[in-house]
Amino acid sequence: MRNPFTRRNLLLTAALALLAACDAPRTAVEVEVIPQPQSITPARGTLLLPSPLTFSASMSQQDLADLLAYLPAYPLPLQQGGDDAFLRITVSDGLLPDSLAAEGYCLDIDRRGVRIGAATPAGAFYGLQTLAQLARGKTELPCLTITDAPRFPYRGLHLDVSRHFFSKEHVMRQIDRIAAYKMNRLHWHLTDGGGWRLEIPGYPELTRVAAWRKPANYLEWSRGGGRFCSQDTEGAYGGYYTEADVREVLEYARLRHVTVIPEIEMPGHSSELLAVYPQLSCTGKPYTSGEVCIGNEETFRFFEDVLDEVVRLFPSHYIHIGGDEASRRHWRACPKCQRRIREEGLDGEDGLQAYMIARIEKYLNAKGRDIIGWDEILQGGLAPNATVMSWRSTEAGIHAASMGHDAIMTPEDYFYLDRYQDDPETQPLAFGSTNTLATVYSFDLPDTLRPEVEKHIIGVQGNTWAEYIPTPEHAEYMIYPRVMAIAEVGWTQPQHKDTESFRRRVNREVRYMQSLGYHPFPLSEQVQYSQEVDYDNRCIHLSLTSERYPIDIRYTTDGTEPTPASPLYTQPFTVTDSLILAARLFEGDKPLGKVLHLRTDYHKAIGQTITYAPRGHYYIAKAAYTAGGIYGLVDGKRGGKSYADGYWQGFCPNDLDATIDLGQVTDIHRVMACFMQVKSPNVFLPARVDVYASVDGKEFTLLGSTPRPEEEAAKEVAYVDLGWTGAPVPARYVRFHAVQEKGQFLFTDEIVVQ
Ligand code: ACM
Ligand code: ZN
Repeated sequence: MRNPFTRRNLLLTAALALLAACDAPRTAVEVEVIPQPQSITPARGTLLLPSPLTFSASMSQQDLADLLAYLPAYPLPLQQGGDDAFLRITVSDGLLPDSLAAEGYCLDIDRRGVRIGAATPAGAFYGLQTLAQLARGKTELPCLTITDAPRFPYRGLHLDVSRHFFSKEHVMRQIDRIAAYKMNRLHWHLTDGGGWRLEIPGYPELTRVAAWRKPANYLEWSRGGGRFCSQDTEGAYGGYYTEADVREVLEYARLRHVTVIPEIEMPGHSSELLAVYPQLSCTGKPYTSGEVCIGNEETFRFFEDVLDEVVRLFPSHYIHIGGDEASRRHWRACPKCQRRIREEGLDGEDGLQAYMIARIEKYLNAKGRDIIGWDEILQGGLAPNATVMSWRSTEAGIHAASMGHDAIMTPEDYFYLDRYQDDPETQPLAFGSTNTLATVYSFDLPDTLRPEVEKHIIGVQGNTWAEYIPTPEHAEYMIYPRVMAIAEVGWTQPQHKDTESFRRRVNREVRYMQSLGYHPFPLSEQVQYSQEVDYDNRCIHLSLTSERYPIDIRYTTDGTEPTPASPLYTQPFTVTDSLILAARLFEGDKPLGKVLHLRTDYHKAIGQTITYAPRGHYYIAKAAYTAGGIYGLVDGKRGGKSYADGYWQGFCPNDLDATIDLGQVTDIHRVMACFMQVKSPNVFLPARVDVYASVDGKEFTLLGSTPRPEEEAAKEVAYVDLGWTGAPVPARYVRFHAVQEKGQFLFTDEIVVQ
């Protein structure tokens, strides 16, 4: 067959590849494709889509057979044709430069037809996905050339099927979608305290008992003691995958160029297996521990048997062995674990965990496989060939990468899909904080990373923990559209990402998914805002936006509620004093969501000195909880709905006890801070707030003491202003003391002084 690429196009392709590699800006062209391609060169004219759509393929017999097996699921109805086919697909070594070869493709549309060229079948598959999105709902295509390849080789979605069980059909449905967004890994979290989900020869109790329970809802079940029952118990909820199920899922994924990475959790998150094989725990009793006994050789025999089966079933080069959140409590008290520590000369319980991970790694390395573990495997010494999945922060992954280990970024404050995705008051119960679509999309690596470290960051992944996700519909609601943002973070070079463009494309994609019968979150109905503080000009620029597109934002500034006749928001507000804003989304005359009530103050404490009492200092163990550090509460920047968005300052176990020096004596009449409550991750309102004033910094007068309102304290999620308002008093120093209850987190974003 004729080479589908003219010499001009080949040269163009190479030049574009070079451009992409040099991070040069491209012309502002956008196509309706997620993830956005790296390079788009428009040409003149359009191409009518004929009926039927014919294709020809130049590739190996095996690759063609795989493509033909996939095509019934492809959105465009393609029929095989001859050399004059409308779409010509070529897979050939050397067709693309090395830097694009692994998964890249070139898509050429001119007046004669469409050509897709790639060096691998995966690249051709991705070219087809781009074509399908371009052609959706169209009768003609724009002429253009796209040259494309991913930023990261690893682009994953994680599914927890332990806490709630999801059928193989559900798993395959999600694989189909993520592959359309050019994601290439499914991390299958097969074992955890909620149930064991993989049939293992020789260990029948894992799937006869440890996969079944009553009641179905995980939270209800675990609060009720978390006991398993046998499969034949009436009303038992649960399930597991047989070998045939696994093979079906693997083949389905393979045809979509998705590698399925199985996870077998150890040494923690193992209470389900210890319920049925209690001899593997330190106590020897079921329901006493979530961690296996590492002093017991039988534990290793068990996991080696399980991993033998996993290796037999799964072709994935990587096997995930968990490693997260293992308590040391039982190991400390266990003679067998303590003997292991002595005999192996290990560094305490951290060393004991590291011993297990390294021993399991060695076992899998001998079978030609490598391990991935959660970032806790950095504690006690990292196993030599391990890849780190960094969930608690981005820093842990960077630390691993700087040691020469590969790392995958799954930071919980960006990529955890069990978190709220919108104002929690409007959402079904979720785990803790809020990762909006914009939060997910905003992820990037620090630009100070050295290239030799950055090359070890091999990718990104969204994690769908299922404690709060009881049904398949709800899983889709949590996954989509946020996984589209992860797909674009993982594929598109940062200089080609564009928030506004993504917003438009995601709206279209959500409607498309609904037409396919999926259950995506239909995008937020709330007005969203951002604030930029201009210290030089002593003002705050307030911008409004929305996830929805197209949509109108209408607002008032006089304390009334917005109506369809209220002014339309078109540009940011500049606030030099105080702005009392009410804003709402409208679809024509129809109001959506809630009214955003937002007070913005360029207040007296902005940019002033703040000092913390020793027992009133903020929490420093997590950068996001410092709100940027010492000026976090006097920087004019207000937080959103999530305590992890970088604008909320956390206090634990301390009180918040800070004194602001206003620089000179001035009259004050209001001192206020907003506190957040989200009970599931232990974030609570303060018991009380005391506000003091002083003119000399020595003698302070109590202006007011305000207890938290009990009706707010009773709520799962609340945002409450606490402080003092009164007749003006002269003050230079303001002391703000929020009283903490033991062992909880306090979060506030700004101490507003007026
Ligand atoms: C994790 O979220 N414990 C990995
Ligand atoms: Zn033990």
